[in-house]
Amino acid sequence: MRYHGQSIKACLLLLSPIPILALSTPTPVFTLPGPIAPASWFENLAVRPNGLILATRGDAPEIWQIDPATGEGALLVSVTGAFNLTGIAEVTTTPHQRQPHPPTHGGETYVFGSSHVPTSDWSQVEPGSAKVWTLQFPASSNSNKPKPPVVSFLTAMPDAGFLNGITSFGAGRVLLSDTPAGAIYLLDVATGSFSTPLTGLTGVNGIHTAPGYVYHADMAASALRRIPVDAHAVATGPAEVLAAEQPVDDFALAVDGEGEGRAYMATLTENRVVEVTFGAAPSSGPGVKRVVAENVSGTGTGFVSVAVFGRRVEDSGLLYVAVGQGGGNAAIVMVDPSE
Ligand SMILES: *[C@@H]1O[C@H](CO)[C@@H](O)[C@H](O)[C@H]1NC(C)=O
Ligand SMILES: *[C@@H]1O[C@H](CO)[C@@H](O)[C@H](O)[C@H]1NC(C)=O
Repeated sequence: MRYHGQSIKACLLLLSPIPILALSTPTPVFTLPGPIAPASWFENLAVRPNGLILATRGDAPEIWQIDPATGEGALLVSVTGAFNLTGIAEVTTTPHQRQPHPPTHGGETYVFGSSHVPTSDWSQVEPGSAKVWTLQFPASSNSNKPKPPVVSFLTAMPDAGFLNGITSFGAGRVLLSDTPAGAIYLLDVATGSFSTPLTGLTGVNGIHTAPGYVYHADMAASALRRIPVDAHAVATGPAEVLAAEQPVDDFALAVDGEGEGRAYMATLTENRVVEVTFGAAPSSGPGVKRVVAENVSGTGTGFVSVAVFGRRVEDSGLLYVAVGQGGGNAAIVMVDPSE
């Protein structure tokens, strides 16, 4: 977790519910070429260490790679055997970790999910269709000649309802949220085996972790919460509400070691990015909300699914936000939360 909080302390001291910053005008970065019927959209984003953005399509089994420096993007991989892609997250590895399957070769590994959603109605998921995959960028001794990325099927999760958000949870492990099941799974990427440490959640969508906590969006209750967890992601205490009355899909998280910081929430059909600033864990109570950007789609209507921080020196404090289903093609826009 990175911490972009040059003025977080100052804001907390002011404790002002009145937005003191102006709205950020979203800057278009990339729009998926069309025409694509009935609507194209990116479900999730992950930013590579080199700053390139990986975008999963909810309306097709494709991952696109976008360079935010140039606005150029291209189809990276088409996933045979998948229909609709969902969450994507980089897997953390330790230097000497052995990973017999899939091999990492010291490169980058991502985990992403897929389900079959035959029509445009997301609640109509083909039962038993959830699958988990890896996307690997092999290490290359020559950075000018990168080896092509490899997609591998990792495991099917036939009992899962709909795999939605994914986030890394320690070396070689990821958490996956299952919205209809109200559960979060802990998956070992090397073996494909998993446990179900968190159950009884509602509307669980985007998930992220910081030491000792799982942060999750609840799209049913329109809330953002965090749950204290042990090393197996099992809850060790009650959940804490960080934002209420806030539609939220996925979010970018910037907290310090005490859990004090901010989340930047993609707000579904509100078509906004909303910041919430909250205090240290536990029981800091609901934080202070601020609208960072609105009309994110630039069409007045649309669906904002995820916000992520850039990872280059020049964009580490900026947000890349996915928007779609707004009468236009899937797009990525840049929003500056410090404006
Ligand atoms: C799921 O993907 C298929 C193509 O693989 C597409 O026809 C369908 O519309 C998609 N569903 C949604 C909800 O976008
Ligand atoms: C959204 O932004 C676009 C592009 O700037 C503008 O033309 C449109 O009027 C805006 N719509 C609303 C509802 O603010």
